[in-house]
Amino acid sequence: MVFEPGDDKIKQRLFSGIKKQHPVTVILFLSLIAIAIIFYCCNQPGNSSKKIPGSSSVNDSLSKADIAYWIAADINAITDAAKKEQVKHGRDLIAHTSRYLGPKGSIAKISNGLNCQNCHLQAGTAVFANNYGSVASLYPKFRARSGTIENVYKRVNDCFERSLNGKRIDTSGKEMQAIVAYINFIGSNVGKGKKAAGSGFKDLAYLDRAADTTHGKVVYIAMCQRCHQPYGEGKLNADSSEYIYPALWGKNSYTDGAGLYRISNIAKYVKYNMPQGITYKKPQLTDEEAWDVAAFINSQPRPHKNEWKDWPDITRKPVDYPFGPYADKFSEQQHKYGPYQPIADEQLKKEKAQKDKTASK
Ligand code: HEC
Ligand code: HEC
Repeated sequence: MVFEPGDDKIKQRLFSGIKKQHPVTVILFLSLIAIAIIFYCCNQPGNSSKKIPGSSSVNDSLSKADIAYWIAADINAITDAAKKEQVKHGRDLIAHTSRYLGPKGSIAKISNGLNCQNCHLQAGTAVFANNYGSVASLYPKFRARSGTIENVYKRVNDCFERSLNGKRIDTSGKEMQAIVAYINFIGSNVGKGKKAAGSGFKDLAYLDRAADTTHGKVVYIAMCQRCHQPYGEGKLNADSSEYIYPALWGKNSYTDGAGLYRISNIAKYVKYNMPQGITYKKPQLTDEEAWDVAAFINSQPRPHKNEWKDWPDITRKPVDYPFGPYADKFSEQQHKYGPYQPIADEQLKKEKAQKDKTASK
């Protein structure tokens, strides 16, 4: 470029302009860096405002969280070919239950079309996604729901009847044997009597109010409906052999005797696992949204099957068990939707009084 006389002035203005803007540019630049740093830190798994208890720094929480949680034993390490085949079949039955045992099942038509995996994610191996990490190590065990000592067969058949609105399967049959072989194998790396870290659900604090089904519906429409559909009916695949998006209520969903019918269970499942793809590391729903959408889903119609004599010792009913009679003065409505803290406080008080009584004897 050739400069004509008089251009010097232009150049001068140009440079003084840059000089004038210089401090502003620097500030802008620094804030960009700051934003980048904050963004990076907040996206570290296990960090952000929802810090993992006991973790002290970003790297610390990363290693503790990721290394400490249970990882399923590796099926490929099984050397016995027949055993490996059986365990793999068990995994398949859990991941694609409906194909084999659903309404169009190739083996038998004895359940509602849900897959075990819909609620026990990644065939029961995912952290805080209702995994089977503590089944081999803790069963047989006493369960207050039935008031009896239950083995794994009984527990699996409970989910067939209650969660899959189906029939119990034969304990000695090929399918049950494969399912139990799989569950026992993946948990074989957990010491007998020990609980696997990250099994079951992750805790969720109670709200200080009752869960709000009206707000829950708003959350449902905004965040869930696109997959689970307007009437919670879910979406089947092309040949209807299994769901792409499972039913959350209505005739093809879990019954009112299922574990998920307790609002605390579905709230914890949803908070740390939904919308699809979310994990405990980076939940998307606030606690309020999780409780309220859980309450909305469980306020909708579903198969009635609660004919079991559950919780024979009524003092052991969980605070959110929605069917009376109760050992306290709180209503069925409050037991179902909360607020739960007053109920929990009273249960604690009673337990303490009981302990003091036995101690003074
Ligand atoms: C609609 C959701 C749902 C489906 C589908 C489902 N389950 Fe469950 N399952 C649950 C919930 C919730 C619990 C925990 C309930 C509780 O402890 O109150 C549970 C618990 C279990 C447990 C005990 C876990 C433990 O650590 O004690 C086993 C074993 C189990 N299910 C197996 C199965 C099998 C096998 C299938 C398929 C045939 C299945 N489940 C289908 C929701 C479901
Ligand atoms: C992008 C699609 C998608 C969205 C959005 C989504 N889900 Fe799901 N949901 C799924 C799929 C897929 C499964 C089954 C997971 C599997 O089998 O691995 C599932 C499973 C579930 C289950 C357990 C199975 C059952 O039938 O009861 C519940 C409960 C659930 N979702 C609730 C919700 C809620 C509440 C929201 C909104 C906050 C939500 N989902 C948003 C895809 C979705």
